Amino acid sequence: MLKYFNIIQALSRSALTTPNEAIMHQIKRLKESLEKDGFIKEAKSLEAMLSTSESSFNMAPSKIQKSFVVLKGEELTIKTSIPVDKETSTPLAEVFFPDNLPEAAPVFDENIQLAIQSIVNEWSKFDQLMEINATPASSCLIYGAPGTGKTHLAKWIAKQIGLPVVLARLEGLMSSYLGTTSRNIGNLFTFSNRYKCILLLDEFDAIAKLRNDPQEVGEVKRVVNTLLQSLDSRHEKGFTIGVTNHESLLDPAIWRRFDIQVEIPKPSPEVMIQLLKKFITPLEFNESEIKFLAWCLDGSSGADAEMLSKWLKRAFVLEKESNIVDVMKQFALLNSGRVNVAKRNIMLHSDEDFIAMLLNDKTYLFKQKDIASLFGMTPSSLSKQLSKFKDSEKI
Ligand SMILES: Nc1ncnc2c1ncn2[C@@H]1O[C@H](COP(=O)(O)OP(=O)(O)OP(=O)(O)O)[C@@H](O)[C@H]1O
Ligand SMILES: [Mg+2]
Repeated sequence: MLKYFNIIQALSRSALTTPNEAIMHQIKRLKESLEKDGFIKEAKSLEAMLSTSESSFNMAPSKIQKSFVVLKGEELTIKTSIPVDKETSTPLAEVFFPDNLPEAAPVFDENIQLAIQSIVNEWSKFDQLMEINATPASSCLIYGAPGTGKTHLAKWIAKQIGLPVVLARLEGLMSSYLGTTSRNIGNLFTFSNRYKCILLLDEFDAIAKLRNDPQEVGEVKRVVNTLLQSLDSRHEKGFTIGVTNHESLLDPAIWRRFDIQVEIPKPSPEVMIQLLKKFITPLEFNESEIKFLAWCLDGSSGADAEMLSKWLKRAFVLEKESNIVDVMKQFALLNSGRVNVAKRNIMLHSDEDFIAMLLNDKTYLFKQKDIASLFGMTPSSLSKQLSKFKDSEKI
């Protein structure tokens, strides 16, 4: 498998949503080069994309107009009854209508935004694709570290497509009674296939956990088979999104069933800064303060940024704190899992080392004046302090 092919594929898909001859020519060249180098699967995938857009490109322009998803199936309403687990009567899913889905786009690096946009674009042209006997990708697996916005992303995609979400937590479908899990999965898919909806399988790895129990080998096989058949049954019925934190635990056959696989990484420093700005409103912090907060949260998730923002609101508004460095020392003390251990030790150990570490940071490039204002000093008192540190090092 070519290392960056998923990005290439997303780029091509995105470019082909508004095809023109130049774009098609370049993608054709790419396809031919891949073919020559033996990447047959990858070349085939580009070829399929090209033939879809070639036909749509050749259609009369009057026929091509942006329109809403026209899926077959019944309309889901608040009155629709949701299937339940027969033993416990627990509902097998929760339904979210577009009004209850998140409006705000999640924040990711540009390449991920592009890839996601291409999925949404395909679905918003669903009927055009159907007219030419093509279908958009029908399933997507979103995976990555905890708290990186995967569930939020899945719901936001559904909001963009404009269909209700049938949200199933696989954990909830699992039953201790032999055979019931498979029956629950079957019922859930029958329900989702009947209605126009997006099926969201959150915490998808739950099934894989079963595999650790040697007593359950036969049952796991049955569950995995049911899931495979069920996923196949959804083709051309509606979009299915699987979400997992533990992609390595998934059965390779399940993994292959997903047309698209998107990895959501931990936020980069730039994304962390954007996330903090978003979550922190209406509080206002200047650029160096935001950079400092992002520095403290390096390697953490978007959920951690949201949590820190709540902490800051409490500290600055309710407890009338005024110094961001003191507040972050408190945060580091009480959130040991959210602040990198080396940073935390130095932050809590001495201001001298803390300042030196900030000044030497190669990612955020703090200037002396930024640091002076963070620590509530004037630039000249900071440089005096720094030269004192240097003098004491010489003694
Ligand atoms: N990149 C992001 N953009 C916007 N919001 C984010 C982002 N990452 C996390 N969040 C916010 O953090 C919270 C947790 O996000 P979410 O539940 O989607 O994460 P997750 O990846 O599904 O986590 P888990 O793996 O624990 O299920 C949500 O309130 C979400 O809005
Ligand atoms: Mg989640």
